[in-house]
Amino acid sequence: MAKYSKEINRRRTFGIVSHPDAGKTTLTEKLLLFGGAINEAGAVKSNKIKKGATSDWMEIERQRGISVATSVMGFDYKNHKINILDTPGHQDFAEDTFRTLTAVDSVIILIDGAKGVEPQTKKLMQVCRMRKTPVIVFINKMDRPSQDPFDLLDEVEAQLEIGVRPLSWPINDGPEFKGVYNIYEEKLVLFNAHEKLKDTNSVEFTDINDPELEDYIGDDAKQLREDLELVEGVYSEFNQKDYINAKIAPVFFGSALSNFGVKELLDCFIEIAPSPLPVETEERTIEAEEEKFTGFVFKIHANMDPNHRDRIAFLKVCSGKFERNTNYLHVRNGKSLKFSSPTAFMASKKSVIDEAYPGDIVGLHDTGNFKIGDTLTSGEKLHFKGIPSFSPELFKYIENADPMKSKQLAKGIEQLMDEGVAQLFTGRASTRKIIGTVGALQFEVIQYRLLHEYNATCRYEGIRLYKTVWITSDNREKLAEFIERKFQQMAFDKEGRDVFLADSPYSLEMAQSKFPEIEFHFTSEF
Ligand code: G4P
Repeated sequence: MAKYSKEINRRRTFGIVSHPDAGKTTLTEKLLLFGGAINEAGAVKSNKIKKGATSDWMEIERQRGISVATSVMGFDYKNHKINILDTPGHQDFAEDTFRTLTAVDSVIILIDGAKGVEPQTKKLMQVCRMRKTPVIVFINKMDRPSQDPFDLLDEVEAQLEIGVRPLSWPINDGPEFKGVYNIYEEKLVLFNAHEKLKDTNSVEFTDINDPELEDYIGDDAKQLREDLELVEGVYSEFNQKDYINAKIAPVFFGSALSNFGVKELLDCFIEIAPSPLPVETEERTIEAEEEKFTGFVFKIHANMDPNHRDRIAFLKVCSGKFERNTNYLHVRNGKSLKFSSPTAFMASKKSVIDEAYPGDIVGLHDTGNFKIGDTLTSGEKLHFKGIPSFSPELFKYIENADPMKSKQLAKGIEQLMDEGVAQLFTGRASTRKIIGTVGALQFEVIQYRLLHEYNATCRYEGIRLYKTVWITSDNREKLAEFIERKFQQMAFDKEGRDVFLADSPYSLEMAQSKFPEIEFHFTSEF
C-alpha cells in the first residue's frame, strides 16, 4: 500500500452545483450538521448574499470578507474527511465558480423538483462534462408539488447530457409526499413533515410486493410498485464504474429543508464517490498516491483592506503530503517558497495546519506570488492542465478616467485578472482593453476595487460583442490570412493568444464556414 493511501482513500472533495434558490445553502447546512461541523441551522446562510440587498456589489464586498470561511467546508463523517468547495452561484456567479470545479473530484447537482433543470446548472454541467467529473443528482423540494419523477429524469438526461440511474424513488409529492424508497439499500424511508431535523424513519423492505407496504403508505403502494418496476425495466443496473467514468449520474430524491433524504445521499456518497483522482499535467499524469507533493492554485482571495494587499491562495493538494515550513518549487517563476502558516478550513473555522493530503485544500498567505493555475511541487517541473477560461458573456471597454493614475490602473487590472475576477482582451488594431465577465455585477466590483484598492478610476464603454473565440491553425498562412482579414476583430488574451471577437452568432458562423482550416475554440483549454 502506498504511503498515504489510508488518508487519500478516506477523502471526498466535491462541490454542489445548482441554480440559485434550488436549495444549495440548505443542503450544505444539513450536510454540515450531519458531520457535526455546525450545531445549528443558519450558520452558512448568514454568509449568503441576500436577495434584494440594497446594493448587491456592496453586499459582495461585505461577503468577500467572510466568504473565505465558506470557500471550503471540511468535516469528518463516518471516518471520511469531506471537503465541500463552495461554488458561488448567485449574483456573485463568476469565473471563480467555473475554476472551483477544477479542484473537485466529484459534484452533487441539486435540482428543484418543481422547476427542473435551470440555466446555471446547465452551464456548470458543461464544465463537469469537459472534465469528466462524476456527478450525483439530488432532486430537492419533494415536499412541494413537483414534476413527475420520470419526466424529471428525462429532462436531466436531455438537458445535462448524461445517463441517469435513480437510487431512490419518491412516493408522491407536495402535501401528499410520503417519503422515498431507497433502491440502493432496499428500504422504505418515511417522511414526517413534523419531525424536521430528526433522523429519518426507515423500514427495511427488500420485497416491495410485501402487503405490509400498504400499512405504511396506503394507496400509494400500488403506484410505487408500478414505478419501481418501470425503473428496473428502463434503467440499467447501477454500476459504480459508469458513475466514476461520468457516464451515469445516480439520482436521489428528497427535501433538504426537512432534512429528508439527505442522510441517504451522504451515506451513499461516501461509499461511491471517488477519492482524489489522478490529475493531468502537461508533462505526465499525477497519481494521488505518489509520495512527492504536487498541488495547484485554483482560487485567489484578495484581502478587503486596501492597506494590506495580501491575499489567500487556495491550493488543492494533488499528490504526496504538503507540510508546513517546507520548501516547495513555484514552477512558473522558479522560486522556492515555504509557508509558515498554511491554513485548513474546517467548516466555518480556519486553523493553521502542519500537513495536508491529496484532496485537501490549503490556504496559503500570498503577497502576490500566485496566479490562478500555478503549480507547487517538491521539485519537479510540472504544469497542471485543466484550468480553462471560457468565453465570457458580457463585455465592456475599460478606459482610464484619470490620466494621472494610468500606472495604478494597469497594475490593478493585472492583479484582478490574476485573481480570475474577469478576463482581459486587448484589441490588435485599436489596442483598447476589453473586460469580459460571466456575471453582470463583476463590472461594478472591478470598478469599486480599482478605486479602493489601487486608487485608480475607470470608466466603461459599451461594445457589441457576442463571444471571444480562441483561434489556432496548423496552416500558418491561413492563420495569418484570417488575422489580416479580420484585423479589426482580432485581439490578444492575457497570455498573448489570438482571439477572434465575434460580434454576432452570424459573424461567427460565417467566419467558421469561410475558414475551414482555422480551429475555433470556445474555451482556452485546447
Ligand atoms: P440556494 O442556496 O440554492 O439559493 O437556496 P437556499 O438553500 O437558500 O434555498 C432557497 C429557498 O428554498 C429557501 O427559502 C429555502 O428554505 C427553500 N428550500 C430549500 N430546500 C427546500 C426543500 O426541500 N423544501 C422546501 N419546501 N423549501 C426548500 P426562502 O424562503 O427563500 O428562504 P428562507 O427565508 O427560508 O431562508
